[in-house]
Amino acid sequence: MPYADLTRVVLETDQRQVPRSHAEKYELKTIWYWYPLYCLGGISFVAFVILTITGILLGFFYVPDGRLQLDTATSLPTNGAYLSMLVIMNNVPFGFIIRGMHHWSAHVMIAAVFLHMCRVYFTGAYKKPRELNWLLGVILMLVTIMFGYSGYLLPANALSEGAANIGINMTRASPVIGDQLATLLFGDINTLSGVYILRWYWIHVFILPLVGTGLMVLHMALVWLQGVAEPH
Ligand code: HEM
Repeated sequence: MPYADLTRVVLETDQRQVPRSHAEKYELKTIWYWYPLYCLGGISFVAFVILTITGILLGFFYVPDGRLQLDTATSLPTNGAYLSMLVIMNNVPFGFIIRGMHHWSAHVMIAAVFLHMCRVYFTGAYKKPRELNWLLGVILMLVTIMFGYSGYLLPANALSEGAANIGINMTRASPVIGDQLATLLFGDINTLSGVYILRWYWIHVFILPLVGTGLMVLHMALVWLQGVAEPH
């Protein structure tokens, strides 16, 4: 046997450290699952990677301070977060492009995750033995929506304040712990103090990425092990 083949065989058998994928186990040759709708999970992940890179860059310039202050130039009420957005858009080199990429990748991710879920549902791929991955997917859907909501708050403009007020009222409507939960998440539930910006910034750049990345790795590891389902 040629030396190169021998090395490959040894690497794939004796010295192999990872479990064999479904495709390897059953020696699948067909690539029917490359149909476009089967790419939606991958597209969600690519969008997430772009969001992570552009988000890290935005983090160098964004200031998570929503507290009321007076604009020195106009004497009108404003806040540090909103002012830092103006700097990103007008003064930081390529800042508006980085923000634009972050904005549109977020839209693409929300749409792709939803359509991916529809694809999984309509091909019956959620059925046995993939129940666990469907449940992981449901949590990933919620994580994606919370990413969107928290990101929408961060520019600290009029739209953000509207969304924050809706969020406060929805949280307060929860039974028993509504008011406490709203205070924890937004800082102040009667008048909108700017504290909500720092709280949701932390959720947006630390908690959700941590949970989301872990679950995505688990979700895709399961796909790798179980293979992509044949349509039922
Ligand atoms: C951040 C969000 C998500 C990412 C990055 C992601 C990624 C992926 C990838 C790359 C695949 C391989 C097949 C494909 O692309 O169609 C896949 C499969 C799968 N996903 Fe997701 N997914 C996400 C959200 C969801 C959601 C919301 C659900 C359902 C509630 C879900 C349920 C599943 C299931 C059951 C499979 C196995 C499908 C099969 O074997 O044909 N995923 N996911």
